[in-house]
This record gives sequence, structure tokens and C-alpha cells, in this order.
Amino acid sequence: MQIIRATDYDHMSRMAANIISAQVIMKPDCVLGLATGSTPIGTYEQLIRWYEKGDLDFSRVRSINLDEYKGLSPENDQSYRYFMNEHLFRHINIKLENTNVPDGLEEDSEKACAAYNEIIRQSGGIDLQLLGLGHNGHIGFNEPSEEFIKETHCVDLAQSTIDANSRFFASMDLVPKQAYTMGIQTIMQAKKIVVVVSGKSKAEIVKAAFFGPCTPKVPASILQLHRDVVLVGDGEALSLVP
Ligand code: F6R
Repeated sequence: MQIIRATDYDHMSRMAANIISAQVIMKPDCVLGLATGSTPIGTYEQLIRWYEKGDLDFSRVRSINLDEYKGLSPENDQSYRYFMNEHLFRHINIKLENTNVPDGLEEDSEKACAAYNEIIRQSGGIDLQLLGLGHNGHIGFNEPSEEFIKETHCVDLAQSTIDANSRFFASMDLVPKQAYTMGIQTIMQAKKIVVVVSGKSKAEIVKAAFFGPCTPKVPASILQLHRDVVLVGDGEALSLVP
């Protein structure tokens, strides 16, 4: 594992964007695995800036996102599809038909997961997977559990997640209770993995995930077994890293 110590969030974002842009330049038809959440927003902003300057071309890039809430439409501003369109896709020249997010409107979970696995298989595999890290060690929506679940699956959201999300919805009935997520094996099969972490609140979990035992109770700890992981963090998030 390689660790890149950035001075602050902006620096972290530029370093992560540098790695992604190198991937796009070296392989213009690459498959990028993408994440939502607050941490990668600065990385996406930097990629947009370089695209606007004419330094990056996404016209042949394909993307596969990690996860999506079950029951939310792409137009719902809480959906991950909406997030990706707003924070990246509509600002660059990636073809929307080359971008993939699990279908939140597919009610049949087996069908939704099988379809997403097929998209991943047909893509030929992910060249670079960008990940954020949950406070409990989750990656995608792979929550702490007794086992590593290999492929795309439907997850029951923790009550704490449902409660936290409720502020974004008009009523409790509308808050998603489940989500579709890429599985751990799929993430581990990415050729390169870039994990972005920022802020003091991530320091403990960064230490546990990257320097503690490898266990499904801390899903990100499996990344220790990957041969090409880059952890890009600011000083606060990396403050407990030996
Ligand atoms: C998002 C995702 C999540 C986030 C994680 C960290 O697609 O899969 O695992 O990466 O929850 O979120 P932030 O960056 O908001 O701390």
C-alpha cells in the first residue's frame, strides 16, 4: 500500500485527481469505479477543472458506481445517480450511456443485482476504483458483517443511516430502507484502488482498516490484501497512521 499524505482537503483532492487523470491519459477507454459521499467532491471538482482547461478527455471513459438507494429515481436529488450527474458527469464529456449506477427503481433485488454484475462483467473489469471510507469501515454499502459478500447485493440500511437520512425527505415512508451495492470481490478485482480520507473523524477507522486485523467486521480492512492500493489522506485523517 502506498500512502500519500496531503496537507489539507484541497491538496488531498488534487492528489487523488492526479492519479485518476493519469489513468485517463494512459488509457483513454478505461473503466473508472466511482464513489459518492462528501470526500470525493473535491476530487471531482479538480477533474472538471482540468477537463475545462482541455487537459482531460472522458469521451471514451466508462464508469461504474459503487452503490444506489433502492426505491429512488435518478431525478431524486438524494439518489446517487443524481449526485454523480451533478458533481461530475454533466460537467465533463463522458457519454451518459457509458456511466453506470445500480438501478434504484428495480424492485426485484435479484434482477437488479444480476443486471449490475453483468454490466461489470461486460465492462471487462474496473481499471481504477475510487473509494471513500465509512466511519464504521464500510466501503460502498458493504457494512460490518460476519462475512465479505462478493458481488452486487441488496443491503438493509442500519436504523442509524435511515434516521440520519430522514432529514432529506418529506416523510419517514419516503426514506430508503435498502440499497444496492457492489460487492467486496468486485472491488478487490479492480486493478488499482484509490481511497480518499479526510478529517479527524476518520483517523481511528483509517488506523483500524489499514493497520488492524483483516476482518469483515471492518470491511475496508480487506484492502490490505490488494496489491495496488493508494491511500490519499489529509493530515488529520492520517494522524494515527504509524
Ligand atoms: C459512497 C459510498 C460510501 C462512502 C462513505 C464515506 O458511494 O460508497 O461508502 O464512500 O460512506 O462517505 P463520506 O465521503 O461522505 O465520508
